[in-house]
Amino acid sequence: MFFSRQVERAVREHRMFTHGDKILAALSGGKDSLALFRELAHQGYDVTGLHVDLGIKDFSVKARMIVEKFCQDLGAGLIVISLAESGLAIPRVKAAVKRPICSVCGKIKRYWFNKTALDKGYTVLATGHNLDDEAGRLLANALRWDTAYLSDQGPTLPAEAGFAAKVKPLYRLSEFETASYCFLRGVEYHMDACPYAKGAGFTFRKQLMQSLEQKSPGSKIGFYEGFLHKARPAFLALEQKNHEKLLPCLECGYPTSAGTCGVCRLKRTLAGQAKFNEYS
Ligand code: AMP
Ligand code: FES
Ligand code: ZN
Repeated sequence: MFFSRQVERAVREHRMFTHGDKILAALSGGKDSLALFRELAHQGYDVTGLHVDLGIKDFSVKARMIVEKFCQDLGAGLIVISLAESGLAIPRVKAAVKRPICSVCGKIKRYWFNKTALDKGYTVLATGHNLDDEAGRLLANALRWDTAYLSDQGPTLPAEAGFAAKVKPLYRLSEFETASYCFLRGVEYHMDACPYAKGAGFTFRKQLMQSLEQKSPGSKIGFYEGFLHKARPAFLALEQKNHEKLLPCLECGYPTSAGTCGVCRLKRTLAGQAKFNEYS
């Protein structure tokens, strides 16, 4: 089947993992991550799910239920991290920070993906990013010539001090293809958009890439693969010179350039506010 062949090709060409690896797959409950998990399990990989419950009313309750049922039906292992339990429920964070919540939420999720993979001995962390996500993000990064992000963007990130290896085995497949896979395989997924949905800008860039694809089929994968082979090495070389030295966070060990990492600082801010509210 086309879907399986594209995943096999991505895994093989980028040496993402082998059948000897312990894979942790981040499951949001959406079509991409569930399709990824089902396919990896089907191909005989040792894969466990990780769901981060964001604590967003209704939306997160539904997402968690879908992921739990999916793993139960498949007889697969699942780790659930509840942000509310660590005082970082997204609605609370949103009320406390001035920055756009989606980027802060993304940071918190990546922190827990990394921490869980390292703490529990997984050799690689897989996410369900698809071709539309990757080509849209590449366009955004290139429009700003953001060399740091351009040097980091790719379907694999190797393990380094404090960071687990990360892979995106669906990078050759479009959103339409992952949705079709779920439909054909009877995978029930979460269709609701996050109430704090990403800015219109990102969707607009995805649509722009889609218009290009319709006029000239193969544009999206050509743009992305061309970047990986012809441009990314140059950005990597450039950024290696500017590479900021990261040291373990003084509180949790996560690599940071700021003594205490962003998530620990956020926890402290929220704890301070809770105390203030108690006394005022
Ligand atoms: P997104 O940034 O929402 O498009 O998600 C990209 C990928 O990150 C998904 O395909 C999942 O693998 C992972 N992901 C997003 N949200 C969560 C979550 N709440 N829990 C676990 N994994 C997630
Ligand atoms: Fe994180 Fe919407 S703010 S998923
Ligand atoms: Zn920390």
